[in-house]
Amino acid sequence: MNSTEPNAPSNTVVEMNQIVLPQHTNALGTAFGGTIMSWVDICAAMAAQRHCRRAVVTASMDQLDFVLPIRKGEMVNLRSMVNYCGRTSMEVGVRIEAEDMLTGVRVHAASAYLTFVALDEAGKPCSVRALVPATDREQQRWEEAQARRQQRLDLAAQRKRIAERHQPR
Ligand SMILES: CC(C)(COP(=O)(O)OP(=O)(O)OC[C@H]1O[C@@H](n2cnc3c(N)ncnc32)[C@H](O)[C@@H]1OP(=O)(O)O)[C@@H](O)C(=O)NCCC(=O)NCCS
Repeated sequence: MNSTEPNAPSNTVVEMNQIVLPQHTNALGTAFGGTIMSWVDICAAMAAQRHCRRAVVTASMDQLDFVLPIRKGEMVNLRSMVNYCGRTSMEVGVRIEAEDMLTGVRVHAASAYLTFVALDEAGKPCSVRALVPATDREQQRWEEAQARRQQRLDLAAQRKRIAERHQPR
């Protein structure tokens, strides 16, 4: 597909599976949160790249809620998709599920939203092609992502004002 043509969110979906090995666990024998975060970052970055066909950097990761612990030996399934595009940035949603390999029982373990920025050859933010929701669910995701983006921008502006107040005069 031509990488300048408008694109549907479904074309950006990436699925990634990992087995939780001993080196991925904490002292309790469950998956170490930092390892899961790095898998989330990788899976989300691939979805962003599928959309823009550019180098991308992670600009931010929103709150990552671990709903349930993931145990050693379980398979972690990560599914990412671009929900929304600004001019140079893309919001990617990631759903993380854990599967018990012996019983096949699969549970929702965590979810996250990340923002990536596309970079040109000089390493500067560059515009990305349009993302066009094709289903009602994709349209709903777009609208929810747009609201989160506004909250992020508001929070960043608020933090900037606070930081400026603490600058030495
Ligand atoms: C992310 C980065 C490229 C943004 O650069 P910048 O000079 O602030 O660029 P701009 O102000 O032009 O913003 C570019 C886009 O990023 C978005 N953005 C910037 N900071 C953001 C943040 N903290 N969270 C979410 N989006 C952010 C802006 O809203 C804008 O989106 P839009 O073009 O869709 O409207 C820059 O801050 C950076 O390089 N950060 C380090 C990234 C990194 O090292 N990541 C870890 C390894 S991959």
